[in-house]
Amino acid sequence: MLKLSKFLNTFNEPETLKMAKLARSLRAAGHDVIDLSLGEPDFNTPEHIKEAGIKAIHDNWSHYTPVAGFLDLREAVCSKLKNDNNLIYTPEEIIVSTGAKQSLANVILSLVDEGDDVLIPTPYWVTYSELVKIARGKVVEIPTTVNSNFKINAAQLEAAITDKTKLFLFSSPCNPSGAVYSAQELAELANVFLKYPDIYIISDEIYEYINYVGKHASIAHCEALKDRVIVVNGLSKGYAMTGWRLGYIAADKHIVKACDKVQGQFTSGTCSIAQKAAIAALLGSKTCSFDMTQEFEKRRNLTLELMQKIPGFNCTKPDGAFYVFPDISYYFGKSIGNETIKDSADFSMFILNNAYVSSVMGAAFGDAQCVRFSYANSIENIKKAWTRIHDILKNA
Ligand SMILES: Cc1ncc(COP(=O)(O)O)c(C=O)c1O
Repeated sequence: MLKLSKFLNTFNEPETLKMAKLARSLRAAGHDVIDLSLGEPDFNTPEHIKEAGIKAIHDNWSHYTPVAGFLDLREAVCSKLKNDNNLIYTPEEIIVSTGAKQSLANVILSLVDEGDDVLIPTPYWVTYSELVKIARGKVVEIPTTVNSNFKINAAQLEAAITDKTKLFLFSSPCNPSGAVYSAQELAELANVFLKYPDIYIISDEIYEYINYVGKHASIAHCEALKDRVIVVNGLSKGYAMTGWRLGYIAADKHIVKACDKVQGQFTSGTCSIAQKAAIAALLGSKTCSFDMTQEFEKRRNLTLELMQKIPGFNCTKPDGAFYVFPDISYYFGKSIGNETIKDSADFSMFILNNAYVSSVMGAAFGDAQCVRFSYANSIENIKKAWTRIHDILKNA
């Protein structure tokens, strides 16, 4: 009998992509669905970056690329890290991948052995837990809630560490909560890690530019941790380049070498055209990114204003990224019409089937009290979506 591998059952399909698929099929059935489930800017890639991609095609950059990425791109990443973040890396400490998702996969497969514990504060990006499962590691969640602004502190971190802890993995700005760690908060976490020299730290900074509170801080600023901090970043969010698939890490050479080995077997070097376009993005003006962030901030404020009019949404003011992550547990056990909402999955499906607005249940991010709504959508759609949600919930 034909059989797929048992391995396939050890991890889940991303809930974000599943919801987007459901939204598409409702749309195909003729419904006017507003998609607040997906995590991508609704802007086009800036012109100067597109031009660099077109030029790369005309210049015949059509061959296989070095596994770690073109040297001039890795140099551009180093310039970016120096200019934006005051972090000094050499091109040998950079490897470019097909999206930050692949960067994360490379690192996790390079570091995690069967049975290793990987500490992840909740809520976290859906893919983190599944990549750890693929590497046969064990996810150990450090819970946070809306009341702690979805951030952990040093005491919580230290209490979660055991001799099995191999890796700590987090994003700031955070997808899905929008929480942003300050330099001081990161320094306090770094002080804990200094006591535990065998733990690696992945700092996912892909939402770096979408920050409404000021200068981005990185845990890599702690010089004494630099050999075991892996900075993950990419061009998807800050430059509206999700489809180009370009991510990278900055890390100690031994980690970069390991990732090069993994990537060398899975995909080799990433797309030559995307790499050339990425150089133009990283070395070019940042105005395009800041303009997008300003627009996201307006949409965040509008979303919070509209959400406040609906009972039972307990939400922090997100400091970064482009999501709100309200605690909606007020609705658990409540019946609306013929439907009873038991959990965040039911809530999300209720909104989709009755308001035709897609969202993602919090359980997928390790927090079953909440639901994630993106505001990477037009002002018009945001208004329409939240009016519809208000209308179906007003009598709950
Ligand atoms: C926190 C976080 N990290 C990494 C990624 C991966 O980004 P990409 O693979 O598009 O570079 C995403 C995408 O949604 C994300 O939200």
